[in-house]
Amino acid sequence: MITVREIDPADPVLFDQWYDALRAGVVAGRSAALLGTRETFRVSLRDPSPLKTRLAIVALDDDQVVGAMLFEYRLQDNLDSVDVEIDVPPAFRRRGIGTALWQWAATRAAQLGRTIFQTELGVPSTPWPGSVFAERLGFTVEHVEDHLVVPLPYDSARLASLRESAGKFEGYTLTSWAGACPPEYQQAYADLHTAMDNDVPTGGMTRETVPWTVERLMASEERVDRSYLALVTMAHTDAGEPAGYTLIYVPRDDPDNVQQDDTLVLLDHRGHNLGTHLKLANLDLLADHRVAQSYLHTWTALSNTAMQKVNARFGFTTVEQNQELELTRPRLRPAARGLIVDPDDRILLVRFEFADGPLWATPGGGLEGSESLLEGLQRELTEEVGLSLVEDPPHIWHQEVVAEGHATGYDGVINDYFLIRTEHFEVAGTLTAAELAAEQVHGHRWWTLAELQSHEGRFAPRNLPHLVADLLHTGPPTIPLSLDL
Ligand SMILES: CC(C)(COP(=O)(O)OP(=O)(O)OC[C@H]1O[C@@H](n2cnc3c(N)ncnc32)[C@H](O)[C@@H]1OP(=O)(O)O)[C@@H](O)C(=O)NCCC(=O)NCCS
Repeated sequence: MITVREIDPADPVLFDQWYDALRAGVVAGRSAALLGTRETFRVSLRDPSPLKTRLAIVALDDDQVVGAMLFEYRLQDNLDSVDVEIDVPPAFRRRGIGTALWQWAATRAAQLGRTIFQTELGVPSTPWPGSVFAERLGFTVEHVEDHLVVPLPYDSARLASLRESAGKFEGYTLTSWAGACPPEYQQAYADLHTAMDNDVPTGGMTRETVPWTVERLMASEERVDRSYLALVTMAHTDAGEPAGYTLIYVPRDDPDNVQQDDTLVLLDHRGHNLGTHLKLANLDLLADHRVAQSYLHTWTALSNTAMQKVNARFGFTTVEQNQELELTRPRLRPAARGLIVDPDDRILLVRFEFADGPLWATPGGGLEGSESLLEGLQRELTEEVGLSLVEDPPHIWHQEVVAEGHATGYDGVINDYFLIRTEHFEVAGTLTAAELAAEQVHGHRWWTLAELQSHEGRFAPRNLPHLVADLLHTGPPTIPLSLDL
């Protein structure tokens, strides 16, 4: 049975297993996959930025980590979005583990009230498993970049010829630094970052940009510096106006890879070969600071013909496509529910009375605040039927219903169901009959399978008798069964 849960990144064993699974999933079948190092993730997960929550999630088969997810969301902007990175090592694929991790993401995003899911894929060839998986979930590709690399150390003959053909450089001054931006350039550098955010093509990706301030720049540099040495060259006009910049990250503990990040030339200054001069100067800086890395990576939008030309001139070759994908989902209310079964295989259901008639459903209800599924389940069971969980019950079904009338103020519901085997007990929740009635609950009953199967009224889920019959016959599924209405 697969269980999916968040890990404490300070747990050294689980953190390592999470990272190993993430890496194994990311690199499979890709010659130039780039993933932050173990140390980079260790630092960023244990000491998170105040601007972003990053959660490390594992899929466990007993004690073995068989899949990993990074689930992230920003806290002060982009408040409707979450980022998901789901990775399953090849040995464990096509067993539903990716789906189980996705179900966790769907429930948590619903709990956070976020409806936009974003993800990235490195695609070296087609058909590609990640593309098929994401497309099946409803993601669409909104932006595509080439991922390019050039070997290091950078070829000095090419550098010399590039320098020669770049021609005379007049009207601008270049300033380079390694590490944090010198104070006298901070405002200009922050403004250039804002211009970059507004200028960089992102296709159809939903992205709210927030202007950079010096304070934000310094905080970001301080965090980045723990894992990367930033190499920057900035261009000013002779009159002192900023005109552009380029930025390389040298990871502090990646022996193989260096990343060419932003390059921006402001609109008014394009057409002067500034991009080439900036890159040449930054490659000089890289020669001074490279340790042993053998590849420089960069990413350029297919539509960015100017930068594609510069890349080709610098000898970059395309290794794969980097795709950004997005999926907007309805607003669903998440709930935890218990399928309670006694030793005689009788099932405890509660009766709802709605305007269109009665409905028998499993006890449980909507998650409150930031409680986990199991916390929510325990609270609901205490309130509705007076049952205490003695162990973590298996997660058997994940139901998504998009339809009006299921939860006020929402487009539908997500119900996660758990199988609770228990002694028979007298139902006595902490809520009074009047309080339950206010939630449309008007009674309860233990049902045999035969009674379920012969009943002509409604159940939730609709095919509950069939699902229960299957469950009693074959036991809990390895991963939660996906249900609709
Ligand atoms: C994509 C990935 C997470 C899928 O993990 P998984 O555990 O194999 O996924 P599941 O078993 O839940 O597959 C769910 C469905 O996706 C589709 N799918 C997944 N891999 C596929 C493949 N190689 N070929 C065709 N369809 C595939 C199938 O429809 C599958 O359902 P089915 O097995 O019932 O036919 C895994 O291949 C991976 O880690 N890839 C690298 C990272 C990545 O691309 N992540 C996805 C973006 S977040």
